[in-house]
Amino acid sequence: MSKKKLYEGKAKTVYTTDNPDELLVYYKDDATAGNGAKKGTIVGKGVLNNKISAFFFDMLAKQGIEHHYINMPSDREMIVKKLDIIPLEVVLRNVAAGSLAKRLGLKEGTKMSTPILEYYYKCDELNDPMVNKFHIKAMNWATEDELAQIEKAGLKINSIMTDYLKTKNIDLIDFKLEFGRYHGKVLLGDEISPDNCRFWDSTTHEKLDKDRFRRDLGHVEDAYKEILHRLTGKQV
Ligand code: CDP
Repeated sequence: MSKKKLYEGKAKTVYTTDNPDELLVYYKDDATAGNGAKKGTIVGKGVLNNKISAFFFDMLAKQGIEHHYINMPSDREMIVKKLDIIPLEVVLRNVAAGSLAKRLGLKEGTKMSTPILEYYYKCDELNDPMVNKFHIKAMNWATEDELAQIEKAGLKINSIMTDYLKTKNIDLIDFKLEFGRYHGKVLLGDEISPDNCRFWDSTTHEKLDKDRFRRDLGHVEDAYKEILHRLTGKQV
């Protein structure tokens, strides 16, 4: 397969493949927080996030969610459909944490009465500023119809994942999604892993996600391993 590096991100590298409609995503062990202000390595993270993401994509597909994931040629690699990425980070929240807790002066762990969906403009130089639908339409980042599809899929994904994770004694606090266009459709892209979700143990409220790295809580790898184990029953 002829591989050409297309893009190197903070946690993943993307390569072309022989098929112009498909890309290869390589999951790295590199970890960053605060938009690159804190850097480190979480040993084995690439393998764990690749497998955890593949698990969630497969699960969501069974419930009618269309996504970019095709298959996993190796432990750290994923073949995906090549999307025209919509430059938005779509954040879903069920419980106050992180930036929401700070911005609204809420205690982390405060349950929301209904899920919250927020948009951020994907732009490292600007620190991913929060935007609303008016900004998005005025800047032509997405159309009204695309936003309607994103909101419907985002809320459905939140509900499917929340219900499923509950059976594994995990609370889905919040998470980030990205979407892209593919032959006239809007598909779910990126990854779904402890790097971009907040997972708390339902009983102990222990954090099982990247906050262990962001906040120097220790046992970072163990938390990612625990998520894969609870989802699949497998160790790695
Ligand atoms: O993580 P932080 O407190 O900076 O931001 P947040 O707005 O509270 O993040 C909400 C959710 O989106 C968390 O699960 C983050 O892991 C995720 N997120 C992400 O994956 N990438 C970003 N650039 C920002 C948030």
